[in-house]
Amino acid sequence: MRSYRFTHAITRKPASSILHGLRAVDTGNPDLGLMERHHSAYIAVLRETGATVIELDPMENYPDSVFVEDTALCLPEGVIIMRPGAPSRLGEAAEMAPHLQKLYSEVRWIEGPDSFIEGGDILVTEREILVGRSARTNANGVAELIRKVDGWNLAVREVHTPPGVLHFKTDCSLLDGETILSTKRLDASGCFNGYRVIHTAEGEEAAANTIRFNDLVLMPSGFARTRDTLLAAGFEVREIGNSECAKLDGGMSCLSLRFTPKAA
Ligand code: GLY
Repeated sequence: MRSYRFTHAITRKPASSILHGLRAVDTGNPDLGLMERHHSAYIAVLRETGATVIELDPMENYPDSVFVEDTALCLPEGVIIMRPGAPSRLGEAAEMAPHLQKLYSEVRWIEGPDSFIEGGDILVTEREILVGRSARTNANGVAELIRKVDGWNLAVREVHTPPGVLHFKTDCSLLDGETILSTKRLDASGCFNGYRVIHTAEGEEAAANTIRFNDLVLMPSGFARTRDTLLAAGFEVREIGNSECAKLDGGMSCLSLRFTPKAA
């Protein structure tokens, strides 16, 4: 299962500049100490599956750089370095590239200048890659991604992130080879027709961003009804505190790149 079985993950420690991180609505500054504890718990669960987790140093000049997922798309065939649509985050991609170039022989770049795309808008399933147009990912970005995966025999489908939602995966996540966890508002768009869909509980839309990582589903704590639905469906769940990342619209997927390296 190429879409959720991985040997490696990359994370980056939160910087103290996280206080200046981007947010749609100001609900107060994150507490760095608490975020660090949540981050350590997250990494411990990734390691619990047997994976190697590479922890990168904080980058003070990039307040949102703890959200490494937006910098690259890691596939079994190779890596595509993203081009984040948030101007303050654009440089994060080039900072990530050397770490991936050590592990992959095939690294391609979204070059722009008019293409923007962030990893948080990309959901990889067993059969296709869904890319949500959003305030951060534009049509040129999707088109360039399609050109960049040329030759890898992959289907890429453009979909849409609901208005006012940061990323496509803010509202959905992959649970297994055929099952998606989604908010009702995103599923209503029809983008998951043909998949088995489990909805987040009413009022628990913020639980939609989970990650399936090997045998475990990591989800933010505090969403008991959605958690119980996942448990009843047979998933092995680990709850991780996410209160501080949530203040910056971040969640489980944002905090790691997950992959199996492919060297030459
Ligand atoms: N604060 C995360 C982001 O806006 O990308």
